[in-house]
Amino acid sequence: MSDLKNYFKYIDENKEFYIDELAKAISIKSVSGDVSRVSEVEKMGEKMESHLRDIGSKTIIRNLGQYTHPNGKTLGLPSVIFGQLGSDSSKKTVCVYGHYDVQPAEESDGWDTDPFVLTRKDSKLYGRGVSDDKAPILAWIWAVQAYQKVGLEVPVNIKFIFEGMEESGSVGLDDLINREADQFLKDVDYFCISDNYWLGTRKPCLTYGLRGLVYFFVEIEGAHADLHSGVFGGVVHEPMTDLIHLFSKLITSDGKLLIPGISNTVAPLTEKELELYKKVDFSIEDFKRSIKVGKCIQENPVDFHMARWRYPSLSIHGIQGAFSGEGSKTVIPCKVTGKFSIRLVPNQEPEKIQALVSDFLKTEFAGLQSPNKLHIYSPEGGMPWVSDPDHPNYMAGKRAIQQVYGVEPDFTREGGSIPVALTFEKATGRNVLLLPLGRGDDGAHSVNEKIDESNYINGIKLLGAYLQEVSKL
Ligand code: BES
Ligand code: MN
Ligand code: MN
Repeated sequence: MSDLKNYFKYIDENKEFYIDELAKAISIKSVSGDVSRVSEVEKMGEKMESHLRDIGSKTIIRNLGQYTHPNGKTLGLPSVIFGQLGSDSSKKTVCVYGHYDVQPAEESDGWDTDPFVLTRKDSKLYGRGVSDDKAPILAWIWAVQAYQKVGLEVPVNIKFIFEGMEESGSVGLDDLINREADQFLKDVDYFCISDNYWLGTRKPCLTYGLRGLVYFFVEIEGAHADLHSGVFGGVVHEPMTDLIHLFSKLITSDGKLLIPGISNTVAPLTEKELELYKKVDFSIEDFKRSIKVGKCIQENPVDFHMARWRYPSLSIHGIQGAFSGEGSKTVIPCKVTGKFSIRLVPNQEPEKIQALVSDFLKTEFAGLQSPNKLHIYSPEGGMPWVSDPDHPNYMAGKRAIQQVYGVEPDFTREGGSIPVALTFEKATGRNVLLLPLGRGDDGAHSVNEKIDESNYINGIKLLGAYLQEVSKL
């Protein structure tokens, strides 16, 4: 499309400005899970609000009240920032969502550089939250600003929703969206979320599915205090041993879930669905190289996609209360809390999975005849989501990718979760498109998270081209 030629040129010419602005955003340690950084999260929200005002958007700050942090403290929830640009009834209205909070990061986790100082190296930008989700949320701002700077009319009305609690479960957001369905979201025609990644490193994609999530805390409590294993070993039932026994019953080393009844909850595979997976362009070798592993559970691409997209997975995350320091401490921990989660797929419902898992753990624990106390806690889960990749919203995304990258995108699903996608769809009945900017090897949540400079800059063009394409629907 030649009418965006100047627009794209403007974006290329302002690359340094965009990178400087991203550096400022990265320096704000907006870790929503860290109680000591509540004010940094709020500061990042204020920054997004000021960016919105700078592009002429009206803003509303939605305060969601308080919540109880897993550590027991009551804390204020970060603001949800609403923005509204344009209210021309002859134009389409697009609602974009993103999050301004990030995962925790410490240099001591193994980062090569300070995670909160944007570092440029080999045309890549490193820092916590660059790809998840600060470059994408800023890219929405720059995509609109570039229209204004080159003297083009912004082709659609835009409603922005930026939250600061996504990495910590988006507490209160579903209720807010449901309340706003016939208010702020009333005239929204299409939703677009840029908060995931390309499948690989070379080809852009459009994403039409996400897995859901349920998280479990399994606490086993024994004696009143930690004990000496030389004195008590052999005569007391040890909480840690009980927990390891339970964990060993959940999953095999090659990823098979062992919870009885769980496979019946998975939607049957259809021919049509299988065809979609066969079309996806993907290299398992590149994938293995990017994380430096020699072998995957699935080595055939179709099985690989299905394992991440349409089958559940169970991951064990940690054991709180267990001895984890260096050296050999001969302790019997008196109370341990094992943590694991299950990624959910159609047609699994969080409550039903929670009940299956909890019943199974209780039965297994009863079999141990241990006097220790078992307590299972599972917070509210998130549903899986699958959309229609043939929807016009996806066709707009596809044409935008063709304009910026000159290729046909892959149509993908994700193994990760963005529960709000389904909430938007259910609350309004409107289509949701996931339009990722970053690459599959960006390392979100990991050390040395990065986004390629080209993905950030072309991402701004991509979001701008999408806005134009969606205006024509
Ligand atoms: N951007 C991710 C979602 C995501 C993850 C998309 C992996 C594609 C692949 C988001 O910020 C995130 O981390 N989501 C959490 C959700 C959870 C807290 C409910 C996740 O997937 O663990
Ligand atoms: Mn994210
Ligand atoms: Mn994330």
